[in-house]
Amino acid sequence: MNATPAGDWPFEVRPLTPTLGAEISGVDLAGEVDDVVFRAIYRAWLQYQVLLFPPQDLPPGRQVAFARHFGQVQIHVMNQYHADGFPELYRLSNLDGRGRPNGRHPDKGTLEWHTDGSWQHVTGHATIIYGEVVPETGGETHFADMYGAYDRLDSAWKARIATMRAVHNLDFSRTRRHGEDPMTDEQRRATPPVDHPVVRTHPETGRKCLYLGDHAESIVGMPYAEGRALIEELNALAVHPDLTYEHRWTTGELIAWDNRCLLHRATAYDPATQGRVVRRCTVLGEVPA
Ligand SMILES: [Fe+2]
Repeated sequence: MNATPAGDWPFEVRPLTPTLGAEISGVDLAGEVDDVVFRAIYRAWLQYQVLLFPPQDLPPGRQVAFARHFGQVQIHVMNQYHADGFPELYRLSNLDGRGRPNGRHPDKGTLEWHTDGSWQHVTGHATIIYGEVVPETGGETHFADMYGAYDRLDSAWKARIATMRAVHNLDFSRTRRHGEDPMTDEQRRATPPVDHPVVRTHPETGRKCLYLGDHAESIVGMPYAEGRALIEELNALAVHPDLTYEHRWTTGELIAWDNRCLLHRATAYDPATQGRVVRRCTVLGEVPA
């Protein structure tokens, strides 16, 4: 997409890398974000894929209100993560009742490259995450551009996957990566595996993106082991250091990203000595095509 000329935004825009990510300054997210400003935020979000807002005090209810500008907010099936009083917020914390690190990582699935909500029929649109407590080292969030991932595949790969569909399954990724606190029968029943195109077309920019990540389990019509190997190979091919933004958190920052054209992951930290508390809203988007 064409860059918007400098000065054409109702806030300050500072690109974070040559290809993706921008910091947006001058917006009070806890206040009312009017339609003119939100339309500009949305335009910047489509252009840069990841928007970073500098540290500010953002109460949980105001975070949900901001997320609602993007669309319908998901109530996550893993209800043990719901924030007190705000089921729209998925809160990841390793702090005990006295605010001390408890030694347990709350969701190890977040450490692998994935896209939020790909295990649903209607997948994740924006994810809007706020850093309440951030560790001194580790606990970063990394983003990889899936437009670029698709563009850089050679023509043989593009032809091979053009009409391929992948099965996405939360129980598969959760059990495989987290290994504790398994899904309940009710949670499993609510999230049957779904399939999506491996190459999706972004409904707003019209650009093609690779759409896999860690929730992708198998390929429709392909023997299981062969599909697993193909997904692992493509997930590895999808991440290019020069098409990645690595964010080191400062307390009170907020990031909004587009799940349709990015993979993301968190990096490890020591949950026995460092605190990390983040809360996020994921907005529901559309059925991928
Ligand atoms: Fe995520």
